Amino acid sequence: MSFKSKIHLDKVPAHVAIIMDGNGRWANLLGKPRVFGHENGVQAVRESLEAAAEVGVKCLTLYAFSTENWKRPDYEINALMTLLVRTVRKEVDTLDEKGVRLSAIGDLTRLPGKTHKALLEAIEKTRENTTIDLVLALNYSARWDLTRAAKKMHRYLAEGNEIAAENAESLFAGFLSTHKYPELELLIRTSGERRLSNFLLWEVAYAELYFTEKFWPEFCKEDFYRAIVDFQNRERRFGLTGDQLKV
Ligand code: IPE
Ligand code: IPE
Ligand code: MG
Repeated sequence: MSFKSKIHLDKVPAHVAIIMDGNGRWANLLGKPRVFGHENGVQAVRESLEAAAEVGVKCLTLYAFSTENWKRPDYEINALMTLLVRTVRKEVDTLDEKGVRLSAIGDLTRLPGKTHKALLEAIEKTRENTTIDLVLALNYSARWDLTRAAKKMHRYLAEGNEIAAENAESLFAGFLSTHKYPELELLIRTSGERRLSNFLLWEVAYAELYFTEKFWPEFCKEDFYRAIVDFQNRERRFGLTGDQLKV
């Protein structure tokens, strides 16, 4: 029986994020170059997005390139950036037809010109769509975003604005690049690694974490559904006792 039929559609997480990991190791196990893994990772993106939209997830955030990934060999970085342009150009019409609104978080200005341009065009083309938000984290790291938010908050206060202590947290959250998306509820990481690698450190506060041994290019719709079912079987207490949740 498919995991899809076990999903309660009224309790689907509004925002799911994925650390898409293991492309290089998957390719190497097949005796292929790492870039082969990245190319095959595109199919897993399609499957996850389709699965997410089908069950009613409103926002899917994908970690595609971290600020630390610039330390990789030039040829791998170039291949990733080229793959991104090619994929965005090829998929934009399908995304648009399916009601996907594309956006991105991270410092996009450091991306190669062509990549940046293709991305902005696709974002513009899909901006009125409402079925699901697809957010690409590109040249993103959580510490970059938190530092940026702190600077914005400092500027806001320096301009003479005052804030009540009880409003400071939500004001700060409003300066993060994720402020326009729903609260993160489920974070998935593939490839068996159990770390966050500088991803959504603030947003993960009360998200459920789900780790799978599968490498990213192997991740399919059924794996996505399985993660949702796992999420739905957990008791999210938010600091309360289990008994308090029952009343
Ligand atoms: C994830 O796969 C893709 C990116 C980080 C861009 P990796 O490239 O990290 O693959 P592994 O983890 O080395 O196998
Ligand atoms: C995290 O994966 C970044 C992305 C998936 C884009 P990495 O493969 O770069 O993470 P580490 O280096 O193993 O922590
Ligand atoms: Mg990796």
